[in-house]
Amino acid sequence: MPGNFQLSVDALVEEGKALVEGGISNVLLFGIPETKDAAGTEAYRPDGIVPTAIRALKRALPELVVWADVCLCEYTDHGHCGLLKDDVVDNDPTVALLAKAAVAYARAGADIVAPSDMMDGRVGAIRDRLDESGLEDVVVVSYAAKYASAFYGPFREAAESPPRFGDRKGYQMDPANALEAIREVDMDIEEGADIVMVKPALPYLDIIRTIKDEFDVPVAAYNVSGEFSMIHAAAANGWLDLENAMMEALTGIRRAGADIILTYFAKDAARILRS
Ligand code: PBG
Ligand code: ZN
Repeated sequence: MPGNFQLSVDALVEEGKALVEGGISNVLLFGIPETKDAAGTEAYRPDGIVPTAIRALKRALPELVVWADVCLCEYTDHGHCGLLKDDVVDNDPTVALLAKAAVAYARAGADIVAPSDMMDGRVGAIRDRLDESGLEDVVVVSYAAKYASAFYGPFREAAESPPRFGDRKGYQMDPANALEAIREVDMDIEEGADIVMVKPALPYLDIIRTIKDEFDVPVAAYNVSGEFSMIHAAAANGWLDLENAMMEALTGIRRAGADIILTYFAKDAARILRS
């Protein structure tokens, strides 16, 4: 993905400083561990890469709002978002590990934890474990309506997290199903989600609008890696004007009702918005 890199902790802090100077107030962290195993151990080790990165960022930039993605797929050797039993993701034991990871990130100083795994019951379990640990103020953003999408391809390559076999259709949503998005959002809010997310953004603008109209919590939209990369690829071929296409896409997501946009265009968009 043009302009996107895996960063060491030191480089991350430097990048964080540049972002704050450029007018960005929030970042979302994904970890790439040195070793992967079947249980995704590095995801919830208190001294793992993400807690270490959070502590360094917060020390250097206390005002930066730090979100931590919560999932196992970057940490499992099989690349699935949870523990496997007979090659199928085992929901409940996975939820316990996700909650453990969320607590580790919150203890390290994350302001927001964002579970992207799509296991059932994980928002409630994470909220309970945070509250029991005295971390009531930590915000839970749920990837509530996360579709099984072809547009995650560049991310999986960048994060070294493609599933080694099969796909994620057992736990991510069917693109043809709009009603399921409402049910998932409803359940996640019931379980304690403070903000709900729709992902991807551009092929799902109707879902963003429905959820914005239907519910009273802020709606976030994730403008994912494939949406970013295809605009870049078209621009590199001379087919689209990069800045105009980027701003039009982001404006469409906003117009659909997104209160928050997660995007790899953030730095460039902030520069244009401030000029
Ligand atoms: C992992 C995760 C993915 C993304 C965010 N968290 C990939 C996936 O579900 O396969 C995708 C982000 C992007 O494409 O930009 N749970
Ligand atoms: Zn995952």
